[in-house]
Amino acid sequence: MPKIGNIELPDFPLLLAPMEDVSDPPFRKLCKEQGADVVYTEFISSEGLIRDAAKSVIKLDIYEKERPVGIQIFGAELDSMLQAVDIVEKSNPDIIDINFGCPVKKVVCKNAGAGILRDIPLMVKLTEEIVKRTKLPVTVKTRLGWDNNSIKIVEVAERLQDVGIEAISIHGRTRVQMYKGEADWKPIAEVKNNQRMRIPVFGNGDVDTPEAAVKMRDEYGLDGAMIGRASIGYPWFFKEVKHYFKTGEHLAPPTMQERVEAARRHLQMAIDWKGEKLGVFETRRHYTNYFKGIPHFKEYRMKMVTSDDAADVFAAFDEVEEKFGDYQFA
Ligand SMILES: Cc1cc2nc3c(=O)[nH]c(=O)nc-3n(C[C@H](O)[C@H](O)[C@H](O)COP(=O)(O)O)c2cc1C
Repeated sequence: MPKIGNIELPDFPLLLAPMEDVSDPPFRKLCKEQGADVVYTEFISSEGLIRDAAKSVIKLDIYEKERPVGIQIFGAELDSMLQAVDIVEKSNPDIIDINFGCPVKKVVCKNAGAGILRDIPLMVKLTEEIVKRTKLPVTVKTRLGWDNNSIKIVEVAERLQDVGIEAISIHGRTRVQMYKGEADWKPIAEVKNNQRMRIPVFGNGDVDTPEAAVKMRDEYGLDGAMIGRASIGYPWFFKEVKHYFKTGEHLAPPTMQERVEAARRHLQMAIDWKGEKLGVFETRRHYTNYFKGIPHFKEYRMKMVTSDDAADVFAAFDEVEEKFGDYQFA
């Protein structure tokens, strides 16, 4: 069974990917309830943290019930990253994760996120110092390389292991690819097949069906799957994958009542956590998936995603439950 430091995980664990404005405590809790084995926060700027920027600091919040939880940080300045580690430790997460994969221009232009894939010695140095700074297990999330001509992930993963990381999650795309094309899991399997690797190697990118998860496990031999987009507005994905692993059969999709209840709880937790305005705004992106496939739904979706008032969104949920209560999801 794979382990991250002393954290014991089940066979082929499912990890909730860090996702900006998505992987917040309410959503992580819902995913945990549905079977996610490890959850990660969205990325948090080390520069923001050390300046006590409210937007970064609020992201450190974790609920006890979501453990094991990893807090993900990004940055490229050693001093800032080390200070950020000290701050992160006070929130008492189970894992500290370093983001070496974010492809966004404003991040990579500062050499952070996937930007650091152009400077592997810096990547290794930062990681080494972070590992030395904390007693918590450190994990890394990265991409295959900067571009197709610079895929050195086998060597990179081994070097990161040698400076002490406890697991690596690899998104099967390069920085240049952003999110285009299909994720390529072959180079991730090469990392896993490197005889010197002893830490868990988790695959990421396009695990969007239970069959894909099985393929990652059985054909590519990886240690677990990190799941991002397939879980947005669909925390049941984790349970469905696990059910498929166990039985080879698809679990019936959640009923309308379960979906409405999840949407209600999600919104309420988000409001309790970050206030009505942000809670209403940031939960919107989940509704499309919560209620995917229902015909003639536009009017209701519009109410959910345009209203600034929580009471109106809750009223829309009630209306949906009443009107579409016996809708059968395929
Ligand atoms: C909305 C969104 C936000 C993301 N934010 C982060 C982030 O904060 N940190 C990170 O390492 N990756 C981030 N990612 C990348 C995901 O963690 C993941 O690597 C990517 O979506 C591929 O996995 P998937 O095909 O399962 O979605 C983000 C992805 C999305 C869609």
